[in-house]
Amino acid sequence: MTRPFVFINIAMTVDGKIDSHARQGVAISSPTDKRRVDELRASADAVLVGGKTLNAEAPKLTVKSADLRANRLAAGQSENPIKIGIVSQATLLPDSDFLTAGPAQKLIFTTPKTDSGQLEVLQAGGAQVFIHNGPRVDLEQALETLKTLGVNRLMVEGGATLNFELIRLGLVDELTAYVAPLLFGGETAPTAIGGPGLVRSAAIGLELVAAQVLDSNGGLLLHYRFPKNINPPRRK
Ligand SMILES: NC(=O)c1ccc[n+]([C@@H]2O[C@H](COP(=O)([O-])OP(=O)(O)OC[C@H]3O[C@@H](n4cnc5c(N)ncnc54)[C@H](OP(=O)(O)O)[C@@H]3O)[C@@H](O)[C@H]2O)c1
Repeated sequence: MTRPFVFINIAMTVDGKIDSHARQGVAISSPTDKRRVDELRASADAVLVGGKTLNAEAPKLTVKSADLRANRLAAGQSENPIKIGIVSQATLLPDSDFLTAGPAQKLIFTTPKTDSGQLEVLQAGGAQVFIHNGPRVDLEQALETLKTLGVNRLMVEGGATLNFELIRLGLVDELTAYVAPLLFGGETAPTAIGGPGLVRSAAIGLELVAAQVLDSNGGLLLHYRFPKNINPPRRK
């Protein structure tokens, strides 16, 4: 298959949590990390989130820095990367930040579980909708579609379930993780990579690209590369 270069970016605590057990999308990144993430976004052709993150938080996914947006325009790119949601059943409000923040092209990959009223909301909000006929979105097909739409560099911004499925299918090239000097604990608090998980023999080995202390408060930045071919895809 032909797909974009895919990189996942995560903000997590030392115990690997990407949110607290309250699941309200708590802030984990430091100001320095927020600037780094903004640069990463500005370097991407598109930014992708999973369905739970999309429906609950409807993130803006835009580039915050005016300078970075101006650089993109000067380079002949769109002001913001394309914003993408992978969602089994979309439930976005018409005035949600995902739909309204921009300017940005918006794509939703979904299934027949998204009802006709919601399809109208998405289309009225300027989103192009792709419907896949399975219980969930076919990630390989979605990435192929993105490649044909000119997406060469795809940034994935979670959540845990989407991260896991992309990794299990061998669709990820690199991962960066900001590790905040915090502990959340909580069995139900989501970790960086969720889903059903892998047995030890199927675990995916990563190659360290860089590790650095990012903040004076002890926040770390880890950068890993994935093995070239995870073939066949790992069984859950
Ligand atoms: N700190 C960070 O870096 C960061 C970033 C983003 C999100 N988060 C946090 O992560 C949490 C949400 O993560 P999450 O794991 O619950 O959900 P998620 O990964 O955001 O969304 C996953 C959902 O997308 C839908 N989906 C459709 N097709 C899929 C496919 N092929 N593979 C996987 N999922 C597919 C599924 O819905 P169905 O199950 O209904 O089919 C699935 O449950 C929130 O607490 C959010 O705050 C943290």
